[in-house]
Amino acid sequence: MKIEPLEVNQRVTEANKLIEGVVNRLVRNFDGALGRVHLGGRKAPYNDLEYEFIGGAKDSIREKHYDKSMRLLWKAEEHAPWSSFKDCTNDEKLLLKMSDESLNEEERSELKRITSKQYRAMLDREYTPEQKQAIVNILSLIGHGEAYAWLVSSEVLNDVKSTGARAALTMQVLEEAKHFVVLRELLMAFDCEIPRMSAWEYVLLERVYKAKGLEKLFGMNVLVEGLALSLFGLMSNMPGLEILKLFHRDESRHTALPVNYFREFPMSRWQKHNPIARAQRLGQLLPALPLIAQIEADMAVIGFDVFDFGGSLIRKISFLAERVGFYTPVPADLFTSSLNELFNLYCRLTRSDFERRNFLEAEMTQGEEELRVEEEVFSASL
Ligand SMILES: [Fe+2]
Ligand SMILES: [Fe+2]
Repeated sequence: MKIEPLEVNQRVTEANKLIEGVVNRLVRNFDGALGRVHLGGRKAPYNDLEYEFIGGAKDSIREKHYDKSMRLLWKAEEHAPWSSFKDCTNDEKLLLKMSDESLNEEERSELKRITSKQYRAMLDREYTPEQKQAIVNILSLIGHGEAYAWLVSSEVLNDVKSTGARAALTMQVLEEAKHFVVLRELLMAFDCEIPRMSAWEYVLLERVYKAKGLEKLFGMNVLVEGLALSLFGLMSNMPGLEILKLFHRDESRHTALPVNYFREFPMSRWQKHNPIARAQRLGQLLPALPLIAQIEADMAVIGFDVFDFGGSLIRKISFLAERVGFYTPVPADLFTSSLNELFNLYCRLTRSDFERRNFLEAEMTQGEEELRVEEEVFSASL
């Protein structure tokens, strides 16, 4: 292709370049000075000279979170056909149609896509009204938690360094948005009253949201996601709740985010041991204890002992926190064993014929697939 260049005034071009150079130095030096005295300056943690975010590329966390999330990205329209979601692409819809057409008549009626009406009827067949209400009470805890997870992860997105970690957090924001809206629709299909956040949950989630900077990774990716992972692992094998397996897989990736991030940008000794940060972590964790006691009756309705769940939860959260250096004022072993004592005391006082046991040994994640996913999260090397 032949291109005819146009003529320009070289002197004007040179002058423009010179002026831009002077203004650029002025603006950047001014912002740099403001930044050094903590009076503002450039807000974007972006280094346009290197064409990178502050922190560099860090492709490995991007591969473990963003790329993996993309590979495992699930569409609600495919997995929750009873919902109102229309998020499949035309190609994905064609694929679903083709796999549907390859079935014989019998297989098709077996696998018939469930409509919202059928789904509700199935829930009514499988559960008593009391069981349905208990499931909604328990899952709404996480339903409200997903709203906060969405809010918190979009703030953390601006607190992390590196292109890779930003990509990872971007996927978390997207997944939390999907969790919130899909879970909301799932709970509405139960046709039960959806309870408000309890006071304990309110205090817990507000503390997590108000935590400073990367301390949010403790409250959100360790504490709240640890609770979500445990609840989804507990309930994903119940009829009609199979979609929770996909939530469980996403949350497992979110709980692994702090360890992958701090491998690239380790916390300083001060950040780990700072007594104020330690006390604040404990402050975020404590409301989870009355929260566990609060769901005892609902858990019992669906056949689970809440303190087995609590023991299993505390063991997992404590492991996730210690692994990256999110210490509390009490050493982890002492903390978990004291909670086991507390659970035993509570049960001795409130239950007849209670026999002492070690709740920390309980494993409440039910499905084999879910246990495999958790094994990967809890293995030391990710
Ligand atoms: Fe979530
Ligand atoms: Fe999450």
